[in-house]
Amino acid sequence: MCGIVGYIGHRKVTPIIVEGIKRLEYRGYDSSGLAIIDKNGELKIHKKLGKIIELERTLPAPSELEGTLGIAHTRWATHGKPTEVNAHPHTCCHGKIAVVHNGIIENYRNLRKKLESENHTIKSETDTEILVHLIEHFEHETKDLTAAVQQALKLVEGTYGIAVISSDHPRKIVAARKGSPLIFGIGRDEFFVTSDVSAIIIHTKRVIYLKDDEIVTIEPDHFEITTLDNKVVKAKISEVDWDVSSIEKGEFKHFMLKEIFEQPVSVENAFRGRLVSELSSVRLGGLNMTGEELRSIERLQIVACGTSWHAALIGKYIIENIARVPVEVEYASEYRYRNPIVPPHTPVFFISQSGETADTLAALYKAKAKGALAYGITNTIGSTIARESDGGVYIHAGAEIGVASTKAFTSQVTILTLLAVLLGRMRNLAPTFGAAFIKELQKIPQKIQQILDDNDKILEIAKTLVASKNALYLGRGVNFPVALEGALKLKEISYIHAEGYPAAEMKHGPIALIDENMPVVAIAPDDVIYDKIISNLQEVKARNGRIISIATEGDKRIIEHSENVIYIPKTMQTLQPLLSVIPLQLLAYHVANLRGLDVDQPRNLAKSVTVE
Ligand code: F6R
Repeated sequence: MCGIVGYIGHRKVTPIIVEGIKRLEYRGYDSSGLAIIDKNGELKIHKKLGKIIELERTLPAPSELEGTLGIAHTRWATHGKPTEVNAHPHTCCHGKIAVVHNGIIENYRNLRKKLESENHTIKSETDTEILVHLIEHFEHETKDLTAAVQQALKLVEGTYGIAVISSDHPRKIVAARKGSPLIFGIGRDEFFVTSDVSAIIIHTKRVIYLKDDEIVTIEPDHFEITTLDNKVVKAKISEVDWDVSSIEKGEFKHFMLKEIFEQPVSVENAFRGRLVSELSSVRLGGLNMTGEELRSIERLQIVACGTSWHAALIGKYIIENIARVPVEVEYASEYRYRNPIVPPHTPVFFISQSGETADTLAALYKAKAKGALAYGITNTIGSTIARESDGGVYIHAGAEIGVASTKAFTSQVTILTLLAVLLGRMRNLAPTFGAAFIKELQKIPQKIQQILDDNDKILEIAKTLVASKNALYLGRGVNFPVALEGALKLKEISYIHAEGYPAAEMKHGPIALIDENMPVVAIAPDDVIYDKIISNLQEVKARNGRIISIATEGDKRIIEHSENVIYIPKTMQTLQPLLSVIPLQLLAYHVANLRGLDVDQPRNLAKSVTVE
């Protein structure tokens, strides 16, 4: 939710860390700040309310901020309002130590009382400031920054990714993590720390993903990773496989639009190497399950939040339909606080683009505590959910920077269709279906492209929604969760209230809302319940509702029921969501853009919700 970047090396630090937090601005954008050790060995801190551009505008002249070591932060407020005082970095009483922090210190109230009784003056409302005073306390005793951080963290309950510098140790950054990502980057004669690799991949792709309770002490020519008990850790260096272009907007106005347009490629990347034509089946090696284990699965649970939860609902429909394995789908935030029943032979899948969502992670721990095997479906290599799972599948969507998830959703759905076919083929699913599925899935990227080619037409239709205050999205069967996803996209970036409903449920209440001011987006592809959804549309039309239909190309009948129609290519029902969601993403994008809103960084939101 917040972003951390730190640098130590031979280059000027300020431009590097400011550029770094700009790349993380999608993670939080209430306020930002930086701290460096300047060329005179002094700690200099600058913070600003608002977006990073405000920080940049108000930075002192470069000559006053010269140094080769520093840390920076972009914040999404949790404890305390977004104000300059509450912005990071925080410093201590003697002003020589600075800390940036992601996560939440749960016992900060008690720690604050204790520190205040020892005459520490706490200036902000944040939990983070407690950390820097604790470190000050132990640094006074030990005269060693690493030891002080270790001692301080032992008193802390909660989650953290932190980076610490001190003018008493002017050639050192100490960084640590627990439950919040922290990545250490190894460049040429320079080192980086960050909470998200996209901040540093223009500098290096060689990284170490710190594990919980690990601390890295970085000096210009050397680093050491230890535990909180000061045991040395030999960590593995990984190579990030993202391309730098994946974190640039290129010719697109917004990341969201770029990511929508990347879907022909990202969907293909999700299934590439996983289709086994000879067996009319698929391979998901990361699950680490034998054929026997796959066959012994009696039911599945899928747990996720937000858009990933919508993907899970589609997964339920498809897995139950073609593999005949019962699936329960749960919100992670609910699962973690109840007493879920996990019967034997029930693997629990956790879907998360970021792999760091706090509720999903807590739900994963809950399932494991109940003895279940946990499987992650994530986009982020080395993320906590990926690491804590017993197996899993990477969706390989590439960096998703727009706060509203688009390409990750279609990649998650692609993986769930693969899982459905795999489980089905291990049971009674006919090889003819497996073969037809593989053939059709391979055509999906090109079919997505066909819809994207209609972007100008979708923009024109979006103009009819710009002034709306509400919108209703209707779908049936596998397209009901697509309706939910379409409504979520519209509300989160355009701030128009929107709801998704199973089309036939409308007459049990929401139909009361229908009048000429209520646009209705109906997902009505040509399938077994087409006639039913047409009847639902007649009910809307009879009440003067304005209908935008998503229909299968060649469908002429839909025209008389709709004010506007967006056509999608024909495909098998299992794969329809991969097509029907694309116009909904584009509609939401254009409406928000036409309303002049900040599409990539909508208000109150942040990418990757690492707090409860
Ligand atoms: C909406 C959106 C969110 C996320 C949700 C879960 O566009 O992006 O609803 O889907 O916060 O995030 P992950 O998938 O990272 O666990």
